[in-house]
Amino acid sequence: MINKGIILAGGKGTRMSPLTKAVNKQLLPIYDKPLIFYPLSILMLAKIKDILIVVNKGQLEQYKKILPNGKRLGIKLSYAEQAKPKGLPDAFILGEKFINKKNVALILGDNFFYGQYLSQKLKSCVKLKSGAKILLHKVAKPEAYGVAKIDKKNKVIGIKEKPKNFFSDLAITGLYFFDKKVSEYAKKLKPSRRGELEITDLIKKYQSLKQLKADYIGRGGAWLDTGSIDDFYKTSSFVSAIENRQGFKIACLEEIALNNRWISKKHIKESIKFYGKCNYSNYLKKLIS
Ligand code: TTP
Repeated sequence: MINKGIILAGGKGTRMSPLTKAVNKQLLPIYDKPLIFYPLSILMLAKIKDILIVVNKGQLEQYKKILPNGKRLGIKLSYAEQAKPKGLPDAFILGEKFINKKNVALILGDNFFYGQYLSQKLKSCVKLKSGAKILLHKVAKPEAYGVAKIDKKNKVIGIKEKPKNFFSDLAITGLYFFDKKVSEYAKKLKPSRRGELEITDLIKKYQSLKQLKADYIGRGGAWLDTGSIDDFYKTSSFVSAIENRQGFKIACLEEIALNNRWISKKHIKESIKFYGKCNYSNYLKKLIS
């Protein structure tokens, strides 16, 4: 069972400069909320309450302004500062104490997931006992992603980073589930040619041990990576279209916490006070009226 999760919310944000010169990418808005709300909502939907957020050195205070300690949300938030973006597996080295030899989920701070059956899928993924599990999604341009080939039992039989020739059209998304060995394996990784520890190498370690499983987000689900300015606006439009058409919010953290029975009306009232007069607060008022 997985009760712990890490959100990687540092990074260089090169592709989004100059927007990311003063503000971290994960604090920029996807429609009506900061990007960090979306990956956090995914961990909360997976019923994970103990969460470590990895941020760039010097940016901690900004994050704490919007997500202080998790009390209002019925969760436990802690932070770790990353001195330099050394690569995704660095999360398991920095977070070794937090992980404390337990199984752990990792979500990239700039990944957006939405869709039917997603909560059910997440709840099944956190049942992981040993090995690792990755979440795949079919994409039209596999050459732009890390992709995985799987067998009939959903065991991963091949992984390739940005394949020039067709290999598989199942992209590896930014949500991973690992067993307690993950920090030990991460510490043994060597930086790649671009000087970073690579998540592909970590996943391949589990594959070499025949301990790597996969699950899909079906065609009714969306996975969007918000790494570039265009992707950012596309994701914002997606959220705006759904929220305005259907009248509910995607990634309203208080709503998920309330549904999980982690908080009461009292906490929602505290949140309304915290956010002040705005549409988000109006939505929270409706939740408890
Ligand atoms: P990337 O998309 O690899 O990189 P980036 O956000 O720095 O942006 P760019 O490529 O434009 O420079 O990172 C994926 C996510 O992981 C992103 O949300 C930032 C985060 N990240 C860290 O927190 N620490 C790291 O060491 C790296 C490499 C990424």
